[in-house]
Amino acid sequence: MAETPVALRRVTAPAVAAFKGRGTPVVMVTAYDAPSARIADAAGVDVILVGDSLANVVLGYDDTLQVTIDDMEHHVAAVARAHPHALIVGDLPWLSYHVSTADTVTNAARLVRAGAGAVKLEGGRKRLEAVQAILDAEIPVMGHLGLTPQSVHALGGFRVQGKDLEAARAIVDDAVALADAGCFAIVLECVPDAVARLVTDTVEVPTIGIGAGRHCDGQVLVFHDLLGLEERVTPKFVRRYANLADDARDAIARFADDVRGGRFPASDETYHAADNVADVMIAVYGSNDANASAATADDVEAPHPA
Ligand code: KIV
Repeated sequence: MAETPVALRRVTAPAVAAFKGRGTPVVMVTAYDAPSARIADAAGVDVILVGDSLANVVLGYDDTLQVTIDDMEHHVAAVARAHPHALIVGDLPWLSYHVSTADTVTNAARLVRAGAGAVKLEGGRKRLEAVQAILDAEIPVMGHLGLTPQSVHALGGFRVQGKDLEAARAIVDDAVALADAGCFAIVLECVPDAVARLVTDTVEVPTIGIGAGRHCDGQVLVFHDLLGLEERVTPKFVRRYANLADDARDAIARFADDVRGGRFPASDETYHAADNVADVMIAVYGSNDANASAATADDVEAPHPA
């Protein structure tokens, strides 16, 4: 019997949609490259979001508006090379779904060809045409409401959204429109918990919160925030489960210290020539390296596993 292709053994968008009402929250984390995807997948997350937060946390930009579809395609492909079991969701960056329907579908397809099993885009009723066109191309779509960072200038900054009745109602109406259009899940970012609860109780697809309180059907955090790799800003909703920046600084400082103190590399971290080769080399060129005369031959192994 033919083996199921790797992509189909993954968590799928319909499987994520089926979390609704099951009582088990959806766990989503961002990742932007193969090693972070491998780590997130081994930890057992359901969804890996290759978010456009790539811009801030990896590429050093101040906002997500700088990231392009080329950047996103590159990083979705890197995550896909880790062959995670989790569903890979590729974030459509600013202007990749705002200009024309044809561009929108082409850009979504680029992320799918790079390895995503679904795409995410920001906005509600305003984006229904884009959502519909992508769905018509058989690509699952995740919505994103509340604080939508691609609208940072229009929103006047990174602020909690849906604080008054009218704004809260608009978020609920947007969520209903996205769910009715066929989105399989909706991210709710930085909204009061009462608003997130109302949306969650109203729509029939899972809500995945970030800064939206506990009444969502799932939660997402950014990889670098969760692990304490991003230290410049810590929004209130981030819980740090590790301090990897501290550990990394300490490790690199110890490496530097060992190099400067002549303690790295040690003999067992070194390839040695066979005795006869080493002896001839010493005879011809001379040597003051004590290790060279005690040498044995090494096979050169691949520096890193494939
Ligand atoms: O880009 C991203 O990381 C996101 C999450 C904050 C949901 O959109």
